[in-house]
Amino acid sequence: MEERVRWFKEARFGMFIHWGLYSIPARGEWVMLIEEIPKEEYALLANSFNPKECSPESWVKLAKEAGMNYMVFTTRHHDGFSLFDSQVSEFTSAKTAAGRDFVAEYVKACRKYNMKVGFYYSLPDWRYKAYFEGPKKNPTAWKYFINYVHTQVRELCSNYGRVDVIWFDGDWPPYPGAWDNVPVAEAWQSEKLFAMIRKLQPHILINNRAGLPGDFDTPEQNILTQAPERPWETCMPMNDTWGYTKADKNWKSARQLIINLVMCVSKGGNYLLNIGPCPDGTVPSPSLKRLKEIGRWLSLHGESIYGAGISPLFTNDPPFIPFSGGMVGLSTFKDNKIYLHVFRWPGREICIGRVNVKIKKGYILSTGEEARVVQKGTRLFIRGLPLKAPDTIDSVIVLELDK
Ligand code: GLC
Repeated sequence: MEERVRWFKEARFGMFIHWGLYSIPARGEWVMLIEEIPKEEYALLANSFNPKECSPESWVKLAKEAGMNYMVFTTRHHDGFSLFDSQVSEFTSAKTAAGRDFVAEYVKACRKYNMKVGFYYSLPDWRYKAYFEGPKKNPTAWKYFINYVHTQVRELCSNYGRVDVIWFDGDWPPYPGAWDNVPVAEAWQSEKLFAMIRKLQPHILINNRAGLPGDFDTPEQNILTQAPERPWETCMPMNDTWGYTKADKNWKSARQLIINLVMCVSKGGNYLLNIGPCPDGTVPSPSLKRLKEIGRWLSLHGESIYGAGISPLFTNDPPFIPFSGGMVGLSTFKDNKIYLHVFRWPGREICIGRVNVKIKKGYILSTGEEARVVQKGTRLFIRGLPLKAPDTIDSVIVLELDK
């Protein structure tokens, strides 16, 4: 495995944060475009964006407690409002009511908690007409716009010390055909952009949303069912929306979020779970509750997640298997251990089929209690188990391979 990507593949679980001016109207981060709010009117939100009590450190602490190993923070979203100080923009949290560089505060907190630092950066800025017109219609305006984008990326890669991930977004044209078929990488001058980034931050990982493949894929709200060669990460909100959306009450259960995490890891991927803090920086309580529960589970079962990946059991099976009545769950793998994740505890005995590996011994991860293994052909029996599930969500049985 390439050394640069190693930490990322071992980290497995990260926090995404969508926070900005759009958190004030609380109708999602696309509110400006969807409601056609004129940019002058939208800009007024900056006057009331002054979250005195907000401390990015509290987010980092929260991520740590939830068992996350890296974070990705919206330094600037499509609305153009930068949460950092920039030479090429007046529309920043540093130059408006808040008078703060939230990116600097976030990075400082990440360092304190030994958290890997990720920057989300939107290539589009809806305040620029050039973005909607594309590179061909008005090349001068486009050049000016690209210079703005590249300069901001340079600032992010120069002013905050080591950055571990740059997470671009929105490389696509605003609507099909908008850019007269100019290839995306050409439009954004991605080769040049990437070369600059890699020079400034040789260790950095770049995602796949800036016209080039970069270092990892980012399936959105979608967990891959086939394990691909390339490193990948599924990003997902806990409800349906990224930026704080007051009316969105469609929260996934903690159980579902843990299943999602295990599903990602079982296919060799990462899970980047989003929070959308309120305008004052506080995290909605349903998110807090879920993160706490995931943190509890990981404190007991983290070994089966961090640094783990595709297991020799069920590896090619579609992810619906854990939800089909009889099956017990998914499996992950590390060193010579298979971690069997049991979401439906059947009682004293578990039986799984199609097992083609020889197991030396088994035990319950959270308690160390023995789980007696008997193999008959390709059937694996795990016996002498407690009647009641050791964990309310996902009990993990370690199966040590005979090698
Ligand atoms: C999309 C959306 C954006 C969100 C992102 C997260 O590209 O445009 O609002 O930030 O996905 O993956």
